[in-house]
Amino acid sequence: MSASNTPASVRTELRGPVLIATLDSPPVNALNVELRRGLIAAIEKAEADASVQAVLLVGAGRAFIAGADIREFGQSPQPPSLPEVCNRIEACSKLVVAAMHGHALGGGLEVAMAAHYRLAMRDAKLGLPEVQLGLIPGAGGTLRAPRLMGVGPAVDLMLSGRHMGAVEAQACGLVDRLGDDDSAEVAGLAYALELLQQGASMRRTRDASATSAERSESLATLAKLEAETAKKSRGLFSPLKVIESVRNGLELSFDEALKRERQLFLQCIDSPQRAGLIHAFFAEREVVKVPEARAAQPRRLASVGVVGGGIMGAGIAVSLLDACLPVTMIERDEASIARGRANVEKVYDGLIAKGRMTSEAKAAVMARFSGSISYDALAQVDLVIEAVFEDLDVKKAVFAELDRVCKPGAVLATNTSYLDIDAIAASISRPQDVIGLHFFSPAHIMKLLEIVVPAKVSADVVATAFNLANKLKKVPVRAGVCDGFIGNRILAVYRQAADYLMEDGASPYEIDAAVREFGYPMGPFQMSDLAGGDIGWATRKRRAATRNPKARYVQIADRICERGWFGQKTGRGYYLYPQGSRTGQPDPEVQAIIDAERERAGITPRSFTADEIMRRYMAAMINEGANVVDQGIALRPLDVDATFLYGYGFPRYRGGPMKYADMVGLDQVLADIRTFAKEDPLFWQPSPLLERLVDEGKNFDSLNRAQ
Ligand code: 3HC
Ligand code: NAI
Repeated sequence: MSASNTPASVRTELRGPVLIATLDSPPVNALNVELRRGLIAAIEKAEADASVQAVLLVGAGRAFIAGADIREFGQSPQPPSLPEVCNRIEACSKLVVAAMHGHALGGGLEVAMAAHYRLAMRDAKLGLPEVQLGLIPGAGGTLRAPRLMGVGPAVDLMLSGRHMGAVEAQACGLVDRLGDDDSAEVAGLAYALELLQQGASMRRTRDASATSAERSESLATLAKLEAETAKKSRGLFSPLKVIESVRNGLELSFDEALKRERQLFLQCIDSPQRAGLIHAFFAEREVVKVPEARAAQPRRLASVGVVGGGIMGAGIAVSLLDACLPVTMIERDEASIARGRANVEKVYDGLIAKGRMTSEAKAAVMARFSGSISYDALAQVDLVIEAVFEDLDVKKAVFAELDRVCKPGAVLATNTSYLDIDAIAASISRPQDVIGLHFFSPAHIMKLLEIVVPAKVSADVVATAFNLANKLKKVPVRAGVCDGFIGNRILAVYRQAADYLMEDGASPYEIDAAVREFGYPMGPFQMSDLAGGDIGWATRKRRAATRNPKARYVQIADRICERGWFGQKTGRGYYLYPQGSRTGQPDPEVQAIIDAERERAGITPRSFTADEIMRRYMAAMINEGANVVDQGIALRPLDVDATFLYGYGFPRYRGGPMKYADMVGLDQVLADIRTFAKEDPLFWQPSPLLERLVDEGKNFDSLNRAQ
């Protein structure tokens, strides 16, 4: 037995006739240049050594290989490329076996598909998720996966980006053997020795050939999938490139198809969608890196109380129960607690009706739930989340009760959307334990959790909140205290820009269409109809007294609400919803209200193109995003991006509003704002941060990297 370190992160060790090549680049063996060089070196070493009869590829640590090193994309490529590595593995004159554990994704699975035989541990997860990053598998994956699994299943794997379990992978031909031993190395070594004993041949995936009947059938399958993908992929660039490459694999020689796959991959690399999607990938992982989580250990978190069982309280309770946490819900009276429990049960009953949960499973979950009208029931919980009416006095009264009954060290959180959490904290004897946990509706589904950090809160409470988000599988974003925190504060501004557009001449339907065309699932007026116009109306009335009398105020929404038209729940809002329909139709009476309001305000309407609509909408969003960063409400621009990606339906392939601004060019955004400011200098005040960055020739991303 001998061991050596070939280039840095691929270790080789000879065990009898098998050279074990272990990829060791924590945390997930992403195929950076050292690993690529190391793999080639290991193959060459095996070929040069007559005593070696087989090579076993394994990964150290928690994964086989998570794919190409995404951090290298966009930088100048370093040889050897991954397709070269895969070709070299496949061409090896000694038997190559890949033994996968943990994740084998993207380029990682492509390495395995280039090996001659594949073993996967039972818990391994295999996938080709490149489309989620705006890419296609670019190291032979679009050609080798169909040869191993068939065109339909391979395209499904590539377009869904899903992770396939090892048992399924074996059933569909992607994997030859399942491993049950202690480690992939032990199982892989046994398998390699067995293959050698059997005299197994070098079985190269590229040589797997189809009959002409099979090829025609595959082309027909592909034509069908192409039509479906064109409909479903909604402006996404890479899914159709996957299909194109798979077709090349059926129609051209392997080498020619491989060359074309590379070209298509490079087109994807150059696409702004790739930049947006990879930014989103890293933003989601960076948001958890906050000073408090680095500085302090989270407190114990084994049981939770929820005060209020309405829309939010029930959704929050479901989210907690799903994470296996016991929940005690407090309501005002017996009828309300029964309603709160029913709200929770309704979610599970919906899952049962769809066949996604059994009654037994629901019973097991509900066994963790208890309801009470006495705050004393919260005496021993580690965390309480308050979700009662949005009224400072009501909330302060609840917190006074919590202060009275909760054990020392319990974390006391509020789900308020807008209220001053510093004021809530200051009203009790333990402000260091008070934090904002702003969930989004429906709370058991939406991924965003704004963690709002008041002035007096202690670092371990913030760390506990991030720990909770991890348990709930949410994307947590740290926010400072202000009216609306990150998301709702920015929303208020671009929503106003949409109202100005409407009063100036664009119809709500044109604005919604432009916003959908940009990539959102729905526009702001559809969103208002869905959420209920009465919510915004109540907020506007509450703020009427403090509104700047010089600021422009569009009254159209008030005129609509005065008629009792609150959106879907009342059958009409900006749109008409005949007979409970959820798809709205343009309403001529709403158009008449808008016309009357324009006339009252002395505005001569003009037309707007979709491009103009989006320039204003986005400029307002970006400008307020810059203010939020400048004032420290968001730690970095990427926190604003994550907020909008996970809480507001911002199209992921555009990376978030701040990344989008970087791609458009901050000078362009600032120039737009200065042009719009000629009409309304009060509303369109350029953010000082935006001006500074433009002056210095920097972008928002420079601030992400500065942290
Ligand atoms: N490249 C570079 N870094 C990566 C990476 C990759 N492919 N995959 C993960 N990482 C990093 C993460 O950014 C994170 O870094 P951090 O600790 O500094 O924040 C660290 O590895 C751990 O990742 P996670 O926090 O996501 O760990 P999990 O255990 O939750 O998840 C995973 C592991 C399922 C592998 C997940 O990281 C993942 O999905 N990775 C991306 C997989 C992927 O998309 N592969 C395809 C890449 S493109 C490709 O291969 C092109 C080829 O066809 C040519
Ligand atoms: P809701 O009106 O549906 O529910 C409030 C519940 O609190 C009611 O069931 C009520 O009986 C109960 N309640 C009131 N006073 C109480 C008290 N003193 N003790 C115990 N229970 C009491 O309201 P919703 O929509 O669930 O909102 C709750 C909070 O969540 C508000 O602060 C709101 O701003 C915030 N929020 C709401 C979102 C939404 O989309 N609805 C999104 C994010 C936050």
